[in-house]
Amino acid sequence: MTSQNIYILGIESSCDDTAAAVLCNGKILSNVVATQKIHEEYGGVVPELASRAHQQNIVPVIHQAIEKAGITKEDLSGVAFTRGPGLMGSLLVGISFAKSMAMALQIPLIEVNHMQAHLLAHFIEEDGFEKPSFPFLGMTISGGHTQIVKVDDYFDMEVIGETLDDAVGEAFDKCGKMLELPYPAGPLIDKYAKQGNPKAFQFPQPNVKDLDFSFSGLKTSMLYFLQREMEKNPKFIEENLVDICASFQHTIVKIILNKLKKAVKQTGINQIAIGGGVSANSGIREALKITEKQWGWKTYVPKFEYTTDNAAMIAIVGHYKFLKKDFTDASISAKSRYRF
Ligand code: KG4
Ligand code: ZN
Repeated sequence: MTSQNIYILGIESSCDDTAAAVLCNGKILSNVVATQKIHEEYGGVVPELASRAHQQNIVPVIHQAIEKAGITKEDLSGVAFTRGPGLMGSLLVGISFAKSMAMALQIPLIEVNHMQAHLLAHFIEEDGFEKPSFPFLGMTISGGHTQIVKVDDYFDMEVIGETLDDAVGEAFDKCGKMLELPYPAGPLIDKYAKQGNPKAFQFPQPNVKDLDFSFSGLKTSMLYFLQREMEKNPKFIEENLVDICASFQHTIVKIILNKLKKAVKQTGINQIAIGGGVSANSGIREALKITEKQWGWKTYVPKFEYTTDNAAMIAIVGHYKFLKKDFTDASISAKSRYRF
């Protein structure tokens, strides 16, 4: 190892993905994710099963990440891990492993906030991807999160809007379940929505103040709507699936874009960086493109593997913390709720 190279191992285990990645000076060397399939048959993440699967996956995933990076564990400069937010039993697997590894190798241990990592994923060195400059508005939309964050610097961030109940991805998945689609339903709803009429059915937009979100009302209105229609026609879902998906997605896109417009107006910041699994949604991407032109925004979307839960984003935060020698004591514990 040449002394100027910084090799960071990132470990992510906050939910249902066991992930490890190695970065060298902020550039990706490996990015391994073991997605737990076990939850599919339950229609959502089962915490107990997630912890057990992390236990099984963590050694091979980390081994693979180091091997793929073409280094040995002795080359590592530091170990970064997700401290929270997330499922306690899942977090504990990653944190315990990270502590032991840092101790054994006698290298710094670095704790990472998962939500900060989603935003700093935009700073992974990647050819063809421009990094946002500060300040920017970060929007993290996934199965577990819905947040708008004002990002003034790498570690100077403020949540200015968030969901009061379900996350947007949860709304996709739960409504998908009502439509008898397999978990996670988001990508399928997106696929069907492309073939349907977004104006076929009307769903109410929640009336939530400021920059906060709520998706539980939309879920309830979908339930009542389907019950009503199925009473009249038991084949309603199969005969109208694409139109239901298109109308539902159209409503979500409107909710998200309206809040973003409000955030831009309120902060005067028109650089938007999005992340999280739902940022793959074609309706949201299209609407962002249109709004970018109409409103003079600049939007940033990272490479797909850095938008869903991954360890490269944990490692990049680790890299920046390493630079400022912001290390963590081994007595630290996981935080299932962790605000920054
Ligand atoms: O970031 P992610 O992989 O994991 C966390 O939840 O943290 O996000 C997964 C979520 C699921 O709710 C999934 O249904 C949703 O992202 N999703 C989508 C699409 N692709 C994934 N939702 C809408 N449209 C998509 N194309
Ligand atoms: Zn996440």
